[in-house]
Amino acid sequence: MEDELLRLRREALAGFAAASDLSTLEDCRVRYLGRKGLLSTAMRGLGQASEADRPRLGKLANEVKVELEAALDGRRAELGSQETGRRSQAVPPLDLTLPGRAIPFGRPHPVSQVMAEICGIFERLGFAVAEGPDVELDFYNFEGLNIPPHHPARDMHDTFYVSDGVLLRTHTSPMQVRAMQRQSPPLRMIAPGKVYRCDSDLTHTPMFHQVEGFLVDRQVSFADLKGVLSLFIAQVFSPQTAIRFRPSFFPFTEPSAEVDIACVICGGKGCRVCKQTGWLEILGAGLIDPAVFEKVGYDPELYSGFAFGLGVERITMLKYGITDIRLFYENDLRFLRQF
Ligand code: PHE
Repeated sequence: MEDELLRLRREALAGFAAASDLSTLEDCRVRYLGRKGLLSTAMRGLGQASEADRPRLGKLANEVKVELEAALDGRRAELGSQETGRRSQAVPPLDLTLPGRAIPFGRPHPVSQVMAEICGIFERLGFAVAEGPDVELDFYNFEGLNIPPHHPARDMHDTFYVSDGVLLRTHTSPMQVRAMQRQSPPLRMIAPGKVYRCDSDLTHTPMFHQVEGFLVDRQVSFADLKGVLSLFIAQVFSPQTAIRFRPSFFPFTEPSAEVDIACVICGGKGCRVCKQTGWLEILGAGLIDPAVFEKVGYDPELYSGFAFGLGVERITMLKYGITDIRLFYENDLRFLRQF
């Protein structure tokens, strides 16, 4: 009897240790410690032991039982933590029933949208696109455009100076000079980009966008300018939009004009937006002044050309009936989401 108890103890301990997972361990428990297991069966045999041996054997049987139960608990805990470790390594915590994460989509800023639309119209007319630096030399921004130092036209520009002879460009016209310096006629280009003026109110921001356009060839006339601009206005606004050319002055064009369209708000009857005139100014233009050609070494007897510069914010405001230019730069999503 004693030998049998000790053998059961040895075998059970070996079985628990050898069990490599919880279900094998459970089989082992049923085999040795279960109600009909080997230990219970052995203990029931105690009745056959002699009176003298019974207390000692009973005590031993109990000790074996307690020891095996403790060993079983220990092994169970060990295998349990091993299994959770394995499971969390093999399968990442992934709940397929969770709703997907919504990615908030952005979209181009209204000024970028209109900028792209404007460029598209001129690209389809065969204009090439060129971009130049925001930090510009005085030469390209003024001197090369027939605006010498101390010329009164400089006052109109509210220039931000970076250092002597270096400034933030006040218009995209410097690209005319850069392009003409680089290549010879014929030339048909647009130059979109940011420009800067020290000015800020309902209709002005210190930074805004322009698109410059220019064409140089033999025998270019004001009629060519008018044709291209009429086509452009018909496309960004509508073919019914009335336009007029009003005489104006720029040092780098001669003759010069400002182009107005019939007020998009009142249709020309006169309102607050057009200051009762029925017209809205949308761009400056003209035939390139021979003095500019001379600066870049073009022969003014041989070549002529036109140039125009338009404000992208202004066109966007007129297209969408926006009355405060600062809305473009406040990044209010309620405003931006409308485009
Ligand atoms: N550069 C001028 C401005 O910003 C616009 C312009 C461009 C006028 C080209 C004539 C020709 O006011």
